Amino acid sequence: MSIAPRSGDGKITVPGILARKSSSGGTSSSSTSKIACLTAYDYPTARLIDEAGVDIILVGDSLGMAVLGYDSTLPVTMDDMLHHVKAVRRGTRRALLVADMPYGSFHVSVDDAVRNAVRLVKEGGAEAVKVEGGEKRVELIARLVEAEIPVMGHVGLTPQSIHPMGGFHVQGKSEEESRKIERDARSAAAAGAFSVVLESMPRELAARITAALPVPTIGIGAGPDCDGQVLVFHDLVGLTSGHVPKFARRYADLSTEISNAVSAFCTDVRRGTYPSDSESYHETAAARTPTRTPH
Ligand code: KIV
Repeated sequence: MSIAPRSGDGKITVPGILARKSSSGGTSSSSTSKIACLTAYDYPTARLIDEAGVDIILVGDSLGMAVLGYDSTLPVTMDDMLHHVKAVRRGTRRALLVADMPYGSFHVSVDDAVRNAVRLVKEGGAEAVKVEGGEKRVELIARLVEAEIPVMGHVGLTPQSIHPMGGFHVQGKSEEESRKIERDARSAAAAGAFSVVLESMPRELAARITAALPVPTIGIGAGPDCDGQVLVFHDLVGLTSGHVPKFARRYADLSTEISNAVSAFCTDVRRGTYPSDSESYHETAAARTPTRTPH
């Protein structure tokens, strides 16, 4: 299932995102031109954030941690991703829908990876895929682009590399690391990525990369100079438990709202004050009239 873009209907497309690259190298004066991206994993969230005007909806493999209760993104499978991408597709009309390629779906062979990406587009309705990694994903990105699948790159902190990286740490603090991240970002863009996520790195490095790349950068924990920003929806609305990184600004506290609503419901049920008479169905007068038995 997919939503085919028609000109003039306000649908956000890959060329539309490319056109939002700030011409002044990441210091755009028009804040409205910056790209707003959020994750979603289900139909109601997708519908709400799409209607609220987000530009890109990412079905991230953060699904594993935000929704499925894993402590990393590594266990997320292609089946998990497809299930959630399909639900998000049903709720998304305007935003560009990007699906993450989960760990293992592109690490074995490029042919397998292309097959998996095709499934995300064909069965899931994604309009683009996201691939973690830069220099070492050049061949893959080029093959996906050749297969008509737009690719969002992802460099810096790449959560699928949690073991080689030794945990979720800010990347690019040393000169060597910083050069590597810059190379990764340039490689992803040169291979054909239409945008590159810059995750958890010094803002100065992200600003340099943003100025150097011909395609938009989407930052998460990478400072304000990127061409756009992405957040995990659950962090934004306060549904995440445990450690929340310092860049994850909380715009709502839904955990407290939900907890209060559920406690109030339990209290009302236990006291017998829910449901009330007006929340109950009633018999019609006709149904109340006793049936006469014929003599
Ligand atoms: O999986 C995800 O949600 C991501 C974003 C945080 C960029 O990769």
